[in-house]
Amino acid sequence: MKFDKPAEANPIDRMQVVGRAHPRIEGPLKTTGTAPYAYEHHDVVTNPAYGAIVGSAIGKGRIASMTLAEAERAPGVLAVVTAENAGKLGKGKFNTAKLLGGPDIDHYHQAIAVVVAETFEQATAAAALIRVEYAPADGRFDLEEALKTAPLAKDPNSPEKDAPPESRTGDFEQAFAQAPVKLDELYTTPDQSHSMMEPHASIAAWNGDKLTVWTSNQMIDWGRTDLATTLGVPKENVRFVSPYIGGGFGCKLFLRSDAVMAALGAKAAGRPVRVALPRPFIPNNTTHRPATRQRIRIGAGADGRIIAIAHESGSGDLPDGQPETATNQTRLLYAGPNRLTSMRLAVMDLPEGNAMRAPGEAPGMMALEIAMDELAERLSLDPVELRVRNDTQVDPEKPDRPFSRRNLVRCLREGAERFGWTRRSATPGAVRDGHWLVGMGTAAAFRNNLLVPSGARVKLGRDGLVIVETDMTDIGTGSYTIIAQTAAEMMGVDIGRVVVRLGDSAFPVSSGSGGQFGANCSTSGVYAACVKLREAVALRLGINSAEATFSDGQVMSGNRSAKLADAVGEGELVAEDKMEWGGLDKSYQQSTFGAHFVEAAVDSFTGEVRIRRMLAVCAAGRILNPTTARSQVIGAMTMGAGAALMEELAVDKRRGFFVNHDLAGYEVPVHADIPHQEVIFLEEADDKVSPMKAKGVAELGICGVAAAVANAVYNATGVRVRNYPITLDKHL
Ligand code: MOS
Repeated sequence: MKFDKPAEANPIDRMQVVGRAHPRIEGPLKTTGTAPYAYEHHDVVTNPAYGAIVGSAIGKGRIASMTLAEAERAPGVLAVVTAENAGKLGKGKFNTAKLLGGPDIDHYHQAIAVVVAETFEQATAAAALIRVEYAPADGRFDLEEALKTAPLAKDPNSPEKDAPPESRTGDFEQAFAQAPVKLDELYTTPDQSHSMMEPHASIAAWNGDKLTVWTSNQMIDWGRTDLATTLGVPKENVRFVSPYIGGGFGCKLFLRSDAVMAALGAKAAGRPVRVALPRPFIPNNTTHRPATRQRIRIGAGADGRIIAIAHESGSGDLPDGQPETATNQTRLLYAGPNRLTSMRLAVMDLPEGNAMRAPGEAPGMMALEIAMDELAERLSLDPVELRVRNDTQVDPEKPDRPFSRRNLVRCLREGAERFGWTRRSATPGAVRDGHWLVGMGTAAAFRNNLLVPSGARVKLGRDGLVIVETDMTDIGTGSYTIIAQTAAEMMGVDIGRVVVRLGDSAFPVSSGSGGQFGANCSTSGVYAACVKLREAVALRLGINSAEATFSDGQVMSGNRSAKLADAVGEGELVAEDKMEWGGLDKSYQQSTFGAHFVEAAVDSFTGEVRIRRMLAVCAAGRILNPTTARSQVIGAMTMGAGAALMEELAVDKRRGFFVNHDLAGYEVPVHADIPHQEVIFLEEADDKVSPMKAKGVAELGICGVAAAVANAVYNATGVRVRNYPITLDKHL
C-alpha cells in the first residue's frame, strides 16, 4: 500500500483499542524472567560453547605478532579465531570499521580474536593467554585539534544529492552584523555511551551452510544483510532472530562484533557459540554518540524576532564515518530570513561514532536551546515568549512547504501554565530555599518525523485468533502492544485475541526500531496487511469490504452479519502487505514538537544540582498508547537529565580510548535523581503522515531536556555553563 495522499477516515479512527492506555502485552514474560533475551535461548540451542572476544589494546597501529599457542592449549578450548585464520571477510554497509580487526587496528577494543571454549570461564581465562605485540601509530584523538583542519561535511541524510555542504538562506553575515541584539557562543557536548541494560549478545548456530543467529538487534534486515556480507554467504542462508531486547538507544541499530564473532567461532568449533560483550567493551568496541563543538550566532530585533541565525557544528569519526547532524533542528525550528547551517567532520581514530537516541537533534538542541535562553535574557524577554514569537508554520528555508502539523506554541503555552512558569524569577540567582538556589528553565523539543517502509503478515485462524508476524523489534518501547492494538482495531477483535510475533527475519521486513519511526511505521505496515485481510474476509463472506464493519468478532454489512472466523475455510486466511510512502512527505515538512520545563535546585555550598520537577508537553500526532508513549517520554527525559548533569565518556587523548568504560565510571541518572516527572500529550491526529495519523515520540522526549536543565541551573545560580555535562566544578 502506498501512502501518497492525506489519510481518510478509517477503522483506526474509532480508537476503541488504539489510543487507549494498555499495559505491555509481553509484560508478564518480562517480569517473570521468562522472555528469552539474546543470550538465553536455552530451549532452542543445546550444548552451546562460549566465546570470549579479545579487544585491541591500542587505539591505532598494527599487530606485529600474535601468539595463540598457550590459549589453544588451555583447558576446554575448542577454537581460536583471528583475522589470520578467519578467511576473507567483507564489511557491512552500516559498519564504519571492520568488526574483526588485524593486522591493522582501527580503534581501541576493536575485536582481534575470539576464543571458544566449553565454559565461559575457560574461554575468558584462555583469552587472557593470547600474547599480542603491537606496533602503535600516532592517532587523532583530540576533537578540538582535529577540527582545526576538518573540511565541511554534507548532511548524510539530505535527500538532495547535490546539496552544498553549507545550507544558506538570505545573507547571514550582513544581517547578523546589523542586528541590534546579538549572541555568538560556543557550546560543547561530550562523547556519550548508550549504556543500555542488556549488552550486545548473540548465539550462532550453523546447520550445514545455514546460519541462525539469536541476537539483540533493533534492525533485523540490516543486521541479517550485513552479517551475510561480512561472512560472504547468501543472505537467504542467514536467519536473524531478536524477539526481546533489553534496550538499544541506537547502539543495536547495526551488526556488531558479538554476532560476527559468534558466527565465526561456531564455524570453527563446529558447535553453537554464544558471545556476550562484557560491559567494559560497550563504549570502545561498539558505538557511541560523538562529541560536538557547536558555534551558534543569533541576531534579533528589539522585538525579539530573529533576523539572522547560524549554527555550525563540528564532530569527528573514523575514516568513512559521518558527521553528527547537530544542525538538523536549526534549519526548521525558528523563523528568520537569514540563515546558515553547516557541519564539519574531522577524521579521528577514536572508536566508531554513530546514532544514539535522536542523533543530530539531541546534541543540537542541547546547544540551540541554551542559546535561545541567552538571547531571551539579552532581549529582556521571557524565554517562552521568545520562542512563541519566532514560531513558523512553514519550513523557513522553503516557505512553500508547510509543516504537516506544528503545535509548538500550544506546547509552550500549556506547559508554562501547567508548570507555574509565572512564578519564575527573571533575575538569576534570586530564589533561595534554605541553602539551595532554585531556578526554572524551559526549552523547545523538536525531532523530525522519519518514514521507513514496513511490512507485515496477518493470519486469521478458524478459532478467530489474529496472528501478526513482522520482523519489527521491541526494544522495550511497546511495539508488541501497539501492534496488537492496531490489529485488534482493524479486525474488530479483543486485544486478547491477537498474537504478535516479532523480531525474526523469517517474517516480512519492517521499519525496525530507530529514529522514533518504529511506532508509526510498523503499525502502518500492520494496518496495510489488515486492510488486505479485511478484503479477503469480505470476499469469502460475499460482501463489499468497503461497506463492512468489523466489530466484536463480527463482520457486519447492512443488515447482514457473520462471525469473523466463518470467513476462514481450511487452515487459515493469510494476508501480507507493506506500507510505503511517497509524495506527501515532499509537500509537507513532518516533524514532532514539544516543550520541556524543569525546576532545579543548586546547593549554594557544594554546587550539587538536584532536579526537582520536570514536565514535557508533546505534540506528535496520534498517541497510539498513552501508557507506553508516556514511558518512552519519561525515559527520554531521564536520559536528557543524564546528558545535562553527568554523562561523559572521558577521552584519553594520548592513547585514544574512552577511559570510563563501565557504569561505575560512566554515570547515568538513578531514581533518586528524578523526583517528579509529568508528561502531557496534546490531542492531535496528523493525516499527512500515515493512516495511523501518528508520529514518533520516543526521541522527541530527549530533545531539549538537557538545555531546559541547563537553563534552570543558570536561572538558579546566574552562572552560565556551555560545556556539558554541567558538573558542579563548572558553576562553583
Ligand atoms: Mo535510534 S538512535 O535511531 O535507535
